Amino acid sequence: MTRATWRTRLGFVLAAVGSAVGLGNIWRFPWLTATNGGAAFLLLYLLVIVLVGVPGLVGEMVIGRRSRRNPVGAFAELGGPRWRVLGGVALIASVVVLSFYSVVGGWILRYTLASATGAYFAAPEQYFAAINYGVGAAGFHALFLLATVAVVYAGVDRGIELATTVMVPGIVLLFGGLAVWVATLPGSGGGYEFFLSLDVAYLRDNFFSVLVAAAGQALFTLSVGAGAMLTYASYLGEDRSLAADGTIIAALNTGIGVLAGLVIFPLLFSLGVSPGEGGPGALFVGLAGAFGTLPYSRVVGVVFFGVVLLAALSSAISIMEVLVAYLVDEHALSRPRATAGVGGLFLVTGTAAALSPSLFGLLADTLANLVLTAGLLGFLLFDGWVLRRAALDEYETGAGRLARLTGRPWYYAVAVVIPLFLAFTFLTGLGAVVGVPVSAPAALALAVVGVGGAIVLLRSDTDSTA
Ligand code: TRP
Repeated sequence: MTRATWRTRLGFVLAAVGSAVGLGNIWRFPWLTATNGGAAFLLLYLLVIVLVGVPGLVGEMVIGRRSRRNPVGAFAELGGPRWRVLGGVALIASVVVLSFYSVVGGWILRYTLASATGAYFAAPEQYFAAINYGVGAAGFHALFLLATVAVVYAGVDRGIELATTVMVPGIVLLFGGLAVWVATLPGSGGGYEFFLSLDVAYLRDNFFSVLVAAAGQALFTLSVGAGAMLTYASYLGEDRSLAADGTIIAALNTGIGVLAGLVIFPLLFSLGVSPGEGGPGALFVGLAGAFGTLPYSRVVGVVFFGVVLLAALSSAISIMEVLVAYLVDEHALSRPRATAGVGGLFLVTGTAAALSPSLFGLLADTLANLVLTAGLLGFLLFDGWVLRRAALDEYETGAGRLARLTGRPWYYAVAVVIPLFLAFTFLTGLGAVVGVPVSAPAALALAVVGVGGAIVLLRSDTDSTA
């Protein structure tokens, strides 16, 4: 079977940026920053992006390009049939993420329409509270889902490259303009202070819970851990440098997240809304409150939410594509059938999330962090101890001089150091969810034992089969 590849040299980078830049940057990042101490969160988040996110993203892409398969097929092809289970983890992670993502996509869709009539201008907080969950939310979620299905149905390469070329400059311009404007608002100064000035005492007292949230958000915003980047990289040619592409994707994506923060926090402070108070509504309350006072507020609102809608769509598509590629490749379903089936599944799970705030919160916050962390942990151990030399070869394929120099450090990071970190945050996060707090030393000890044990097993395994 010949596999489709991206049409232009930049096709993959565009699509991957389209996947990475989305509600994670614009909605989830401000939300989690607001509830995790502002600058303390930002600091750990940036560190995790550089030290874990970028090498992890490349580690996921290595598996996709090497195998040229969907996640389940990729692990079976490269490691043997029992490795399919790792692909299964990626599928589950994709289901968790898209189930709430399309609910938020529905909110965005609704705000795009409501901007045209000015429906939320008078009372932004009340408006958000009225529409966030319930039958209306389920309806808008279904519409957003339908749009996602339509693009995936047509085949990923057509719409996405175009959507990204419109969406990224659009976001940069709009957020850049808004960032300048909010700086002139009275009372916005507290927002910069909250977002950029580190409260050392807060960081010290809450270090591990902030770290867990920051790590989950770093993976989420880079679309790592659920097989989306793996799937996109499976359509990628040998001539691209994975390290260079991964760095570009992460830099653009992180820049956009920080820019969103520079708009939203000053805005919330100038409106007198405490940042943590809005919860998942921080973005909506802050922006909606501002749009009401701007000149040409309806036009600004429609354009703004319209662009965010494109960003959300290009991300949702990348998640759905994981499941569709799996059904098409592994179960010989036609693309239309696979897409319809996956759409039906999300109609059910997304409706449940739209009707239940507590289910939504669980999926969107802790559960998403956990599944992505578990997914990436598995992927990287696979790189390090099943693919081994082949992972490094793939990393070096198409790489320039600079990227080649980083090959060995990357390999050791991916094989040992980052798995330890991921296992640590996973255990800490899991303890918090199930209500059995795991102390940092205990989590570290368990991580060392677990990852070390896995490595020993994998080494003896591959030695005896090699
Ligand atoms: N990264 C996207 C965002 O920030 C969301 C996303 C797309 C995603 N594909 C993913 C998250 C895969 C986790 C896994 O909006």
